[in-house]
Amino acid sequence: AGVVKVGLLGLGTVGGGVIKTIRSQQEKLSSRLGKRIEIVKALVRDSEKERAVELDRSVLTTDFEEVLKSDVDIVVEVMGGVEPTYDYVRALIEKGCHVVTANKELLAKRGTELVDLANRHQVHLAYEASVAGGIPILSVLRQFLRTNDINGVRGILNGTTNFILTKMETEQLPYQEVLRQAQELGYAEADPRSDVEGFDAMYKLYILAQLVYGESLPLAEVKRRGIADLTSGQIRIASELGYRIKLIAQAQQAPEGIRLSVEPTMLPTNHPLAQIQDAFNAVQLSGNIVGDLLFTGRGAGELPTASAVVEDLAYLLTQPFTPHPEWKETEAATGSVTQQNGD
Ligand code: NAP
Ligand code: HSE
Repeated sequence: AGVVKVGLLGLGTVGGGVIKTIRSQQEKLSSRLGKRIEIVKALVRDSEKERAVELDRSVLTTDFEEVLKSDVDIVVEVMGGVEPTYDYVRALIEKGCHVVTANKELLAKRGTELVDLANRHQVHLAYEASVAGGIPILSVLRQFLRTNDINGVRGILNGTTNFILTKMETEQLPYQEVLRQAQELGYAEADPRSDVEGFDAMYKLYILAQLVYGESLPLAEVKRRGIADLTSGQIRIASELGYRIKLIAQAQQAPEGIRLSVEPTMLPTNHPLAQIQDAFNAVQLSGNIVGDLLFTGRGAGELPTASAVVEDLAYLLTQPFTPHPEWKETEAATGSVTQQNGD
């Protein structure tokens, strides 16, 4: 049997999970693909660091040119950030390499260019892991909800903040301590301000809107508030009144255009989204034919995210290239934006 040669950009929480998953599911993957998957290069910052997975030393590199020059069929980008990541992904696509990414920030900031570039070079750009961790919501939207009119989407799209809000309410733990736990569990972004200030959920909402409406708003026009200034007292009072505070991301179609917002919201405790606890995520939407839908599952962490990455990778290796629907950005007709979200 042949070999699929995979390159990794990044070998942290998600990269480690991808290697573990490929190893534990190798037999199943091989029989599906007719080929074994082999990791041939992995780009890191520090090649001396101790890793959660064992790898031949020759696979690790700190030089992106080595990945670019190596004979890889497909690259998994799990290093995060926009620079230098955008330049690396761009160079790989231009070389004709398929790319799987979990990087919502990159997609929300440069996705319109990358989708266009991948289409022009006829390579797959797959990004299921970028939204809602292990929940395969993007594939569902792309393939099985194309005929319904979807009038709105709302959800809990950040695992770290949902974990913090859950522990602050149910165990009365202080904010900083729970944030530290979320970092230790591999849920938080390298810079956790992205989680707690609502940027991460905003990037995911932007991507969801591209798939639901075929367009999104410039990030600067998304209304965004995080949970960093919520107090234990506010959480306790909400709970005593029969409510939970959740960081809710919402996309709505209004006559003047779409509206996107991310903000802490009080929900009655019996509301479906109020029931989503710990690092779970949820996406709730309504189609004119299908009615109400609720998708829920683990939204962050090593294995749920690796599940989405490896499923994407295996799926695209069995599919011929088909152009990705173009991404567009439109201006909001009436923007009442609370904060600036651009660079
Ligand atoms: P992480 O643990 O911080 O790992 C990042 C990896 O990338 C590390 O191996 C690091 O190298 C490498 N890296 C970073 N910058 C680099 C550079 N400039 N050059 C070379 N290597 C570089 O991050 P993560 O949690 O795995 O997240 C990775 C991506 O997945 C991010 O885009 C994140 O938003 C996304 N994501 C994460 C989760 C999650 O639950 N963690 C879920 C969904 C999506 P060193 O190891 O040498 O430092
Ligand atoms: N930091 C992100 C979260 C990782 O907590 O949801 C998953 O995208």
